[in-house]
Amino acid sequence: MTEIIKDIDLAAEEILKGNIVGLPTETVYGLGANALNQDAVIKIFEAKERPRFNPLIVHLFDKEELDKYAEEIPENFFKLYEKFSPGPITYVLKKKKIIPDIVTAGNETVAVRFPSHNIFRELLKKVNVPIAAPSANRFGRISPTSTEDVKKEMDGRVKYILEGGISDVGIESTVIDLSGEIPAVLRHGFVSEEEIQSVIGKTQKPESGKIHSPGMLLNHYAPMTPLVIVEHINELEKFERKNYGILDLNKYHDLKEAAKHLFSDLRILDEKGFELIVAAKVQDEGIGRAINDRLEIARHKNI
Ligand code: TXA
Ligand code: MG
Repeated sequence: MTEIIKDIDLAAEEILKGNIVGLPTETVYGLGANALNQDAVIKIFEAKERPRFNPLIVHLFDKEELDKYAEEIPENFFKLYEKFSPGPITYVLKKKKIIPDIVTAGNETVAVRFPSHNIFRELLKKVNVPIAAPSANRFGRISPTSTEDVKKEMDGRVKYILEGGISDVGIESTVIDLSGEIPAVLRHGFVSEEEIQSVIGKTQKPESGKIHSPGMLLNHYAPMTPLVIVEHINELEKFERKNYGILDLNKYHDLKEAAKHLFSDLRILDEKGFELIVAAKVQDEGIGRAINDRLEIARHKNI
């Protein structure tokens, strides 16, 4: 049985016992464990059915602790941290040995994030260990933005889910690789590449050959219902004979609001038993890019 709880102390106790807990963050809900405890981290992979080659993000309270876990931290990190952290941005840095290989999938780098959600921050203070946490969905499925969503994904697989309301941002953090010569955005998110460039200058496309965010694998965020994408909602005539549901994020008054509703609207449509979900793209700039990327990955490639 999985229980939704409000008691941060109970969640902290569970983490320190070496167990996993569903946790609220400002982006999406996470499935957290003590990042320094290999056996605890293995439980995350098992509950999610996540392949071991996909590394996890390590969550820290603030940059004071960073020296323990990362090295050769570049100036660009401090500039970005100043502007965007705590918040929805994740930095890939050279790792120190203390971070178990299971967390980083054997990579020489570690992804670190400083979440801004108050409850998560309080929990980090209480446990005083870094918390490894991927999104709290089963592998390849829609990311959860509420405790009810987490319960649907993880019922029976986790003892506690800590209540923290609806996730404010609604999509996962931007991942920026600062471990190479030139920074590269590995995953688009709420903090846009343009905003990042305005702080640190040039970024490059991720190097081919090097692992990007393996989380951006094909058919991620996939609803059970087949999903197709149209450039514009007026292309719907094409689908007139099908019993389809429409995901039109353009109806929200701005792209931030659209991002906030992306996964929850998709999940609602997926539960309605349509033959098809037709999703309209949004304007492809800023956070719109992060939304369109996720739609592209959710699209069923065989349609
Ligand atoms: O907003 C978020 O980032 C949420 C909340 C819970 O913090 N977490 C999240 O985790 O989205 P997850 O595991 O679903 O996605 C983490 C992404 C994956 O694409 C993973 O491949 C990438 O970060 N990643 C993790 N460590 C990495 C590393 N050392 N190098 C490159 N990519 C890495
Ligand atoms: Mg995920």
